[in-house]
Amino acid sequence: MVVLNTQKAANELLDKRGANYQDRPRFVLFDVMGWGLTLTFLPYGPRFRLHRSALQTGFTKTAITNYRPIQEDEARQAVSRILKRPEAWDFSLRRLQHARRWGWAIKNLHDIPFSAIKKEFDAGTANPSFAYSLLTKYKENEDEGVPNEFTLQDIQGASGAVFIAGSNTFTRADSVPQTFATTTIAILNMMLNPEVFAKARAEIDRVVGTERLPTFQDRPNLRYIDYLVEEVSRWRPLSPIGIPHKSLEDDVYNGMFIPKGTVVYYNTFAMSRDLNVYKDPEKFNPDRYIPKEEGGDGEPLLVGPFGFGRRVCVGRHLAQASVWIIMATLIATTDILKPVGPDGKPIEQTIQFSTGLSSHPGKLDVVFKPRSEKAERLLAEAVKDAQ
Ligand code: HEM
Repeated sequence: MVVLNTQKAANELLDKRGANYQDRPRFVLFDVMGWGLTLTFLPYGPRFRLHRSALQTGFTKTAITNYRPIQEDEARQAVSRILKRPEAWDFSLRRLQHARRWGWAIKNLHDIPFSAIKKEFDAGTANPSFAYSLLTKYKENEDEGVPNEFTLQDIQGASGAVFIAGSNTFTRADSVPQTFATTTIAILNMMLNPEVFAKARAEIDRVVGTERLPTFQDRPNLRYIDYLVEEVSRWRPLSPIGIPHKSLEDDVYNGMFIPKGTVVYYNTFAMSRDLNVYKDPEKFNPDRYIPKEEGGDGEPLLVGPFGFGRRVCVGRHLAQASVWIIMATLIATTDILKPVGPDGKPIEQTIQFSTGLSSHPGKLDVVFKPRSEKAERLLAEAVKDAQ
């Protein structure tokens, strides 16, 4: 077994020599659970290549723009629900994953026959979804008598990978969804670092104003929110030692022999704390990514949280976009504060992160207050319009 502790070593082996490190060790437990056909656990081979290329095509930066209206709408729904029942904020956020329209994409993957899905498609009530595009292609080929590269089982497997990764069961079975966990850590940091919150809000006010809610169209002009989201996954990578790769052939790196079949972990946590790369790494500081010529520290974004090489997370752009729009919407409309004790002083909470293959914060008490009546009205109107 090899553990890569620096980004440089991970780049050298998993990226540059990626062809050799694209296999996965066998996850016996997941095979037993029937997830063996999902991309995350597929060993290298023709089936892996097929699934990987289908998933990659469905989730490129361009392809995911199809999901924007759904993501914007859901972010607004979630923030609006949080403001209605602030004490159940984590429940409202978690519901994101189960929202009606994603629910469609997720639920049907493993059991609903193609004919039922096609019915919805024909009726024109379909929402953009990854499974849909694969199934449509499948049906088109079938109609035209063109042989299908994919079997229906493959489509189910590929779509199942989307579900399983979105719901974080791909590393262990405690199943706190990844996007939810990332958003929780972002919220935690907004509560703990009011100066970062103030900076983010000032950027939104400057670019968006207070007469409307932020949208993805604003994203190129809201770089601080991007840095904030990036800083969340550097500060607390959810998979601190990634998901292991496996080598296909013998290799030599820096004079060290790495035999074929070696399991390779990448220590994202160590990379995130590398003092040669990040100044004061424990500090949550989105400014660290601002280019030097603009007065920031010009530190590089950490790539490890989403893995490396030919196994890099296919959902990374989608996941980052979801967190981005939720945080932009929250910061624009909602004050995020520490709870106050009977003595009138803010309560300092001990934040415990779980350890193991994935790392998540436990339950947090956070106070959410609407920023203004106008902000509340904007949210209410947006939510009503969408219904
Ligand atoms: C914040 C949310 C997420 C995080 C932190 C995350 C992280 C990761 C990591 C660390 C890997 C392993 C990469 C490697 O082996 O080098 C991975 C793989 C994967 N992720 Fe994600 N992920 C997230 C969300 C998603 C979403 C939303 C999807 C689906 C759209 C997704 C789909 C996948 C798939 C299919 C793989 C397996 C790729 C392969 O084995 O070839 N992920 N993810």
